[in-house]
Amino acid sequence: MIDRIDALAAEGERAFVAAASAADLEAARVRYLGRKSDLTQVLRGLKDLAPDVRGKVGARANEIRQKLEESFAAAEARLQTAAPETARDVTLPGRRPPIGHPHLLASCLREIEDIFAGIGFSLATGPDVEDDRHNFGALNMGPDHPARAETDTFYLNGGALLRTHTSSVQVRVMDAGQPPVRIICPGRAFRNEAIDATHQVEFHQVEGLYVDRDVSLADLKGTLDYFLKSFFGPKTEMRFCPSFYPFVEPGASVDIRCFFCGGSGCSVCGPLSGGWLEVLGAGMVHPNVFREVGYDPERWTGYAFGVGIERLVILRHGVPDIRMFLENDVRFLRQF
Ligand code: PHE
Repeated sequence: MIDRIDALAAEGERAFVAAASAADLEAARVRYLGRKSDLTQVLRGLKDLAPDVRGKVGARANEIRQKLEESFAAAEARLQTAAPETARDVTLPGRRPPIGHPHLLASCLREIEDIFAGIGFSLATGPDVEDDRHNFGALNMGPDHPARAETDTFYLNGGALLRTHTSSVQVRVMDAGQPPVRIICPGRAFRNEAIDATHQVEFHQVEGLYVDRDVSLADLKGTLDYFLKSFFGPKTEMRFCPSFYPFVEPGASVDIRCFFCGGSGCSVCGPLSGGWLEVLGAGMVHPNVFREVGYDPERWTGYAFGVGIERLVILRHGVPDIRMFLENDVRFLRQF
């Protein structure tokens, strides 16, 4: 009797292991564990056995039954994990892999480049790591200018520094060739600021430089008005305020009228701004800068401007905190 049960067990075990489909497995289950299976018959017949064998056979049969149930469960699990393979429906549409897109800052930079390309500006670039002359000296910033103070500038070993503005590229472009010059330079700038919702130590600017005969402040105003209307919309109002930058004369800070409140004052433009938001610095290139790069200031005139990109993007898209640009939280990035 016991031999017969053991043979059944081995057979059933093999059938469960070999089952290649749910149907195979079900057939094996009926055959070896079902109500009419040989094993069940044996268990039913126990009562007819002599009491001394009954206990032995019964114990063995129960042991076997448990083992077979375990093998069945294992085979079921194996078929379930393999199921997608066997059940692959080749007519189903494919699953789209998630695809990224340009960062909000990058796409706005491209947009700004396009606006200026459309009015004849070409692209220039310069290194993030600069020397004193390109970042300060050639830009009419004498050794005592406060912008050189250690608190604003990241200095590297050997006198190199991280450029504090893209104006350094003006110098590189003018060093490299004679006028006329009409370039923009998008790029990173670095300042050792305390980080908060509106200040980051690393940010982006677009520098502009136009040098030719008889370039006037009116040309500068016209160009910036065109740029700001293209970026913020045709109703954008702009104003020039006198401002000081050592490398331009006259210099101006350029404001746009707050389009959140229309100029009455709000949390975006602040209670003291009178409803205007400063968005860039600009001016006519200082004669000392021309002299430094070997341009004759009697022959050439030019304008320059520097736009803070984060500022523009924050205003146009209502980004509440400048730090979001660098955090790379997909919940932020996905929105644009
Ligand atoms: N470089 C100035 C800044 O970073 C901006 C500027 C550029 C001003 C060109 C005038 C002309 O603040």
